Amino acid sequence: MKKLIAITLSLLMVMSMFAACGSNNDSGLSTAIEGKLVMATNAQFPPYEYYEGGEIVGIDAEIAQAIADKLGLELQIDDMEFDSIVESVKSGKSDMGLAGMTVTDERKESVNFTESYATGVQVVIVTEDSAITSVDDLFAEGANYTIGVQRNTTGDLYTTWDLEDEGLATIDRYSKGADAVQALKTGKVDCVVIDNEPAKAFVAGTEGLKILDTDYILENYAIAMSKDNEALYNAVNEALKELIADGTVQKIIEKYIPAE
Ligand code: ARG
Repeated sequence: MKKLIAITLSLLMVMSMFAACGSNNDSGLSTAIEGKLVMATNAQFPPYEYYEGGEIVGIDAEIAQAIADKLGLELQIDDMEFDSIVESVKSGKSDMGLAGMTVTDERKESVNFTESYATGVQVVIVTEDSAITSVDDLFAEGANYTIGVQRNTTGDLYTTWDLEDEGLATIDRYSKGADAVQALKTGKVDCVVIDNEPAKAFVAGTEGLKILDTDYILENYAIAMSKDNEALYNAVNEALKELIADGTVQKIIEKYIPAE
């Protein structure tokens, strides 16, 4: 009996030692800040990330929270220029970039992307009386429209390659999508190329604008992560896959984008 108690006691001691080891960081994962999962974003992109009463909310914020919960980490959201997100992730200042970010070959050279969790479409916003009636109008011979975009987004990259580099348009780059939309409203640009969901939000909040029926391009959104932290990449990617499989991601998306 004494022996049994001794064994039980020593077992308990070993177990509590293990528990103590994990108490700083339940996940055992190394992150940008001990015990925290740091998300880099640009909270100018409703309904994916935007401010509501001083707090960053939206689809990406909720997906990130669900991932952090699964991994036993505290979520910290760092708001920055969209332009800075990839570098922040690459350098390890942030653990993951969630920003309605499109998977592109160019970005893949700097970061790893997780499974895709949503799709987006680049659309064209014009004034209600615009001469531009379809995406093709932007590509027409002799076309010379001024196009507003958010700097370094795919809307910027594609219109730059497809149109500006071909001498078919001038691109005006803004730090926020909303500023590009404001420039359209005041006649500084002829149209804005941006993702469909923020486009809907901006058009709903501004009179006299509409979204063209024709799409520019379809894209996949995913989480950008460092190539140098494989354990964290795997943990986040697995957590995301589970949240997709059990319907959590769909539920979050439907909360912000009601089915039409
Ligand atoms: N999907 C586009 C891209 O990846 C635009 C994303 C802009 N996101 C943001 N949070 N401002 O380039």
